[in-house]
Amino acid sequence: MRRKIAAGNWKMNKTPQEAKALIQELLPLVDSDEVDVIFCVPFIDIPVAIELLKGSRISVGAQNMHFEDKGAFTGEISAKMLYESGVEYVIIGHSERRQYFAETDETVNKKILKAFETELIPIVCCGETLEQREAGITLEWIKGQIKGAFAGVCKENAAQTIIAYEPIWAIGTGKVATKEQAEEVCRFIRETICELYDQETADKIRILYGGSVTGDSANELFSMDDIDGGLVGGASLKADFGRIVHYNK
Ligand code: PGA
Repeated sequence: MRRKIAAGNWKMNKTPQEAKALIQELLPLVDSDEVDVIFCVPFIDIPVAIELLKGSRISVGAQNMHFEDKGAFTGEISAKMLYESGVEYVIIGHSERRQYFAETDETVNKKILKAFETELIPIVCCGETLEQREAGITLEWIKGQIKGAFAGVCKENAAQTIIAYEPIWAIGTGKVATKEQAEEVCRFIRETICELYDQETADKIRILYGGSVTGDSANELFSMDDIDGGLVGGASLKADFGRIVHYNK
């Protein structure tokens, strides 16, 4: 049985002081012994998040990292820096990174390999544009993203990876995918992992849906067979995230 995940992607929101206030507000609302809860916060908020979440069941994630260990990469952050700060998870290849910061399947792949080398668990994003969906090439596109992302990733690490299926047309738009649309692609991703590895790996890997998830939609989405939780943007910055964590209550 795969444990569900509720991961909040704060994006570029909350100063350290604001982060402190938000974490204090959310802490009593998001405690769960059934669901793994992760706050993916801006780099500058990592120390305050680690401090406040110490002793809780909530883990801290980052939203990006570089694939090199160190060096002349102004403005970047390494996997080891994150790890040493207490970070356990890192979002890789979010569509906003692909769109605005030239992330490609190749950089995503390098980052995944580096994350595992550093004992960070990657939350790997994939998803199609509205044009691709309308052109009927969603599954083909997703397959390419998954194959590119997992190149050279061993079976043990693949099983630990978290995949987030996030249709770009659903991100930040309030236009959540239907449970059938989300399930179709999440199931297809699991089948792709089975093709690349085996059934055991496909059964273990956790696949999230992301894109305008709220407390109102979480229950029906997360109840689908192949959807193991959500990567949540806007609603993770509000008390509504508590309803998402307790989606089945
Ligand atoms: P959203 O963002 O929930 O605000 O649509 C999801 C994401 O981009 O991870």
